[in-house]
Amino acid sequence: MNKTQPTVTSPRALTRENRLNSYLIYLEDIVVEFDGFRALDIDLFGLHFNELRVVIGPNGAGKTTLCDVISGKTPATRGRKFWKGIKLADQSDSEMARLGIGRKFQTPTVFDSLTVYENMELALPGTHHVWQTLRGQTNVTEDERILEILERVSLTGSRDVPSRFLSHGQRQSLELCMLILAGPDLLLVDEPAAGLTDEETDLMADLLLELRGQHAIIVIEHDMEFVRRLDSGVTVLHEGKIMTEGSMEEVQQNPEVVEAYLGR
Ligand SMILES: Nc1ncnc2c1ncn2[C@@H]1O[C@H](COP(=O)(O)OP(=O)(O)OP(=O)(O)O)[C@@H](O)[C@H]1O
Ligand SMILES: [Mg+2]
Repeated sequence: MNKTQPTVTSPRALTRENRLNSYLIYLEDIVVEFDGFRALDIDLFGLHFNELRVVIGPNGAGKTTLCDVISGKTPATRGRKFWKGIKLADQSDSEMARLGIGRKFQTPTVFDSLTVYENMELALPGTHHVWQTLRGQTNVTEDERILEILERVSLTGSRDVPSRFLSHGQRQSLELCMLILAGPDLLLVDEPAAGLTDEETDLMADLLLELRGQHAIIVIEHDMEFVRRLDSGVTVLHEGKIMTEGSMEEVQQNPEVVEAYLGR
C-alpha cells in the first residue's frame, strides 16, 4: 500500500480512562427509543479531536438519530455521553451548541431576504437578533473573519447578493460557513452533498477536507463517491447498531456491509 489508509481505532482498543481522555465525544451504551421502537443502540462510539468521520448506512439506520443524540436534540433513553471526558446530563441542543457543537441540517436554514454577508453577521457568536446586524455592530476583526471564511468557498464575490439568489450548493456552503464562524469543536453535517451538482460536490468535499484538523466533523452521507473523496474513517450503522468501523476500503470489503447496504 503506497498510502496510509485512514482507519478507525476501535474504542475497545483503548482503556476506558484513555477513551475519556482522548475522545472529544464518547458514547457508552446509548439507546434511543421512540414509542418502544429502538432507533439507536450504540455500545461504544468515540470521535477524536479534529477527526473527520463519515457515517453511512441504509435509510432508517439511525444516522440522523446519532447526530441528534450527540447534539442534544433527542434525549437518549439510556446510556452515557461524554464531552471532553466529562459526563453530560441530557443537555438541550442550545446548551450543546454553547459547549461547541455546530449542527448542519439537511435543509439549509439561511435567511432568504438577507445577503450572504448579513447571514454571516447574524451567525456571529453573541449575535441573536437581525437588528444587531442591521445596526452595523460588526467590528473589523469580525469582518475580516467573515470575508476569510467566505473566500474559502468562493462566496466573496456574492457577499452582497440576497441569499435567495444563491444556488443550492452555494446555500449549503453558506450554511457551513455560518457554523464555522462560531468556531465549534464538533461539526455535525447531515448529507451535505445531497442535491449538489458535480462541481458543487467537489467544492463541498474540498471544504470539509480543509476543515479537518480545525474541527472534529461527523458527516452523514449516501454518495459513495463523495465518501471516497473524504478519505476518512467510516462508521457503518445498520438497524441502529454500529455494524463496523474502518477505512472506506476495509468497510467496502466487509461482506456484511455489502449485503446490508452497498450491494443493494
Ligand atoms: N421522532 C421520531 N419518532 C419516531 N421514530 C423516529 C423518529 N426519528 C426517527 N425515527 C425512526 O428511527 C429510525 C432511524 O431514523 P434516522 O432518521 O436516524 O435514520 P437515517 O439513518 O438518518 O435514515 P436516512 O438515510 O433515511 O436519513 C427510523 O426507523 C425512523 O423512522
Ligand atoms: Mg437521516
